[in-house]
Formats: sequence, structure tokens, C-alpha cells
Amino acid sequence: MEEIKVFCPATIANVSCGFDVLGLALDSVGDEMTVRKTSEKGIRITKILGQDLPLETENNVAGVAGLALLEKSAYDGGFEIEINKLIKPGSGIGSSAASSTGAVWAMNELLGKPFSNLELVQFAMQGEKLASDVAHADNVAPAIYGGFTLVRSYEPLDIIPIPTPSELYATVIHPQIEVKTSDSRKILKTTITLKQGIQQWGNLGGLVAGLFKNDYELIGRSLEDHIVEPIRSILIPAFDDIKANALKAGALGSGISGSGPSIFALSKGEETAKKVAESMKETYQNIGVDFDIHISKVNSQGVKKIA
Ligand code: HSE
Repeated sequence: MEEIKVFCPATIANVSCGFDVLGLALDSVGDEMTVRKTSEKGIRITKILGQDLPLETENNVAGVAGLALLEKSAYDGGFEIEINKLIKPGSGIGSSAASSTGAVWAMNELLGKPFSNLELVQFAMQGEKLASDVAHADNVAPAIYGGFTLVRSYEPLDIIPIPTPSELYATVIHPQIEVKTSDSRKILKTTITLKQGIQQWGNLGGLVAGLFKNDYELIGRSLEDHIVEPIRSILIPAFDDIKANALKAGALGSGISGSGPSIFALSKGEETAKKVAESMKETYQNIGVDFDIHISKVNSQGVKKIA
């Protein structure tokens, strides 16, 4: 195989109680990338459609992630990458992670899969480092593995794939502002109280247990964040109203998607997820905020070949 076209899913990181450790992949929104082998060494980004992003390899997250893979590879040639950027940068649904994972996953396929998923996550994390100054894995891991993933440890990196109840749907609304992850990390406090820690790890354990047990109620009551959400939500238009109305419409829970400004809700069943979408739309329409909205099943596969 000399060329491959892949779908790289958008992702919801943190999922309220799992800052930097929990994430899930979406089905209905993602980037497309074409990667081809070249005899010329190195990585060349030849085309980016949809967004104005840097073409220089060292300044592009896909380029940097790809270089990390090449460095560990015995392959003597290089790659060309075309990106159709369908996820808006700074939207909070893993735009940089989609580009980084798409690049390394596609290269691995073209090379005959010499690298494990865990290694691909490590390469893709270099793209995240470029985008946000921190090599967090909570977007790239679900983008590679699919479904929900837990980063149990960063040193050493330990990723735990978590099963997804079959009727779980996500609704994500993106108010049309851009929030850079690096900026929304700078405003966070670097310490928490023991009380906050107890609340947070109780909820994270509850959410993971709920996913394993198909216990939608437990999933819902575990979607709480007493540490990051109170700070970051200030940057998001009408966050409290969107969340309250989503819950009224039947969502199990709701919170900030990644570093925002997108807001997500999880629901049992597509019908409820659609009602939640209506309530979110109405909330923004009433106050004149432009938005994009997505309803999606949790993507169980992660990055995949489409041609
Ligand atoms: N865990 C990261 C953060 C995710 O919240 O900063 C960024 O998408």
C-alpha cells in the first residue's frame, strides 16, 4: 500500500471528572487525511483544506507527530500528508488530536503496522505538546483506540480502554468562539483541596464503574467536576443555562468538552440526545450566539481507513 485515506474522529476529553485522563471518540464528526509514501525522506504537508494552518512540518501537529514516528522507524523514505480539516481548531473537540493521530495511524498502516496503539499515542502526544504546551493523551488515546479510554498513568504511559454502553449518545454544541487549550490551561489553579480531590476521584471511579456496568444513572450522577469547570465555564457563553436546559431535556449529565468552549451532554438513546440538541440550540438562539452542533454515538473504532 502506497497511499491511504483515513477518518480521524473528534473527541471529548476530560468528560467532566477526568481532567487529562478520560476521553471518548465521536462518530459523526472528524477530519479526513490522505497520507502517501515518498522516496524523499521526512514529512511534507502538501495541502490543508478548510482551515488556515501552518504547512511547515515542524509547526504542524501532524508533521511533528509524524516526525516522532519516523525517528523510531527503520523506514528509509518519507510521507506526504493532505488534511481536510473538518474540525475547527480551538473548538474543544480534539482538533489537533485528530490531525496528530490521523497522521501516525496512517503511517503505521502504510509501514505494515510496526507500532502498537500505545506507541502511536506516544507519537501523537508530541502533536498535542506543540498545540497546547502539554503532551496530554486524553484526546489522542480515544482517537486511536476508539470508545472511552482512561490514562491510568503518564509515567509510564498506561492506557485503559473502557467499554461503552450501547445506547450512549453525545450531543456537543460549539459556540463560535475559539479558545486555545494553552490559554484555558493557564487560568487553572495548580493545587486542589483534599475535599475537591475526594469528590473528583469518587466521580471518576463512579463514571468508569457506570460504563462497565451499563448503569446510565450512575454515569449521569458521576458527570461532575468541582475543579476545572467552575473556572473554565466563565469563558463560555451561557454555560450554566446550556447545561441546566440539557439536563431538563433529559441528558444524563453535561459539562465542558475538553478545554472548551464546546459543551457536551451524554444521553441514553438518540431520541433524548436530539431533544438535548434542541434545548441547547434554543438557548443560544435566544441570546444570539452562533453555534455548530453535533449528535453522535460513541465511536468504538477510532481512526479508520476510508479509502
Ligand atoms: N485535558 C485537556 C485540557 C484537554 O482540558 O486541557 C484539551 O482538549
